[in-house]
Amino acid sequence: MKHIAILASGSGTNAENISRYFADCNEICVAVVLSNNSKAGVHERVGKLGIPSFVFTREEFAEGTVVLQKLAEYNVELVVLAGFMNKISDVLLNAYPNKIINIHPSLLPKYGGKSMYGMHVHEAVVAAGEKETGITIHFLNDQYDKGDVIFQTSCPVYPSDTPEEVAMRVHGLEYTYYPQVIRNLLSRDHL
Ligand code: GAR
Repeated sequence: MKHIAILASGSGTNAENISRYFADCNEICVAVVLSNNSKAGVHERVGKLGIPSFVFTREEFAEGTVVLQKLAEYNVELVVLAGFMNKISDVLLNAYPNKIINIHPSLLPKYGGKSMYGMHVHEAVVAAGEKETGITIHFLNDQYDKGDVIFQTSCPVYPSDTPEEVAMRVHGLEYTYYPQVIRNLLSRDHL
């Protein structure tokens, strides 16, 4: 069994979706969820599925050692960021080379960077009059939204769309493709 850890800071709909996708799988499972936010909805969502979740402070994530210990305790092979809003430390990046992935709700390099997350992205997309947007799944490196791209797919943005409507369409892509990309990565020999 290959173990995934999900890192999430907010509602956790992706974390729940990924956890459900692998719930009946004999080869891959979501072993643990880590967060920087004790009030995040993700705890209740995965708790209902029997998945343990833990909270670390911003400083602990920045330093990395105790987070790394928790990942080792759960034999984690792949770290999956799903709406995680803290920087990942070099300690973790070095311990999991090309084994930490992130999803971003735009077609990077468009609408990426430190202040571009969640609804801010969709508001910017609508304000710019974009005709399409989408998702990017990428390896993590030490710069925001700059790691090598693993997968991208797009969806239309209509002139009448609100940021909320765009967010719903993009979330739909995330729910369909993020679990599949994770499964494909873990099927590769090097992981
Ligand atoms: C997702 O849309 C994800 O792409 C985005 O946060 C949302 C989390 O939703 N991530 C970023 O913006 C990272 N820069 P969720 O908590 O419902 O899964």
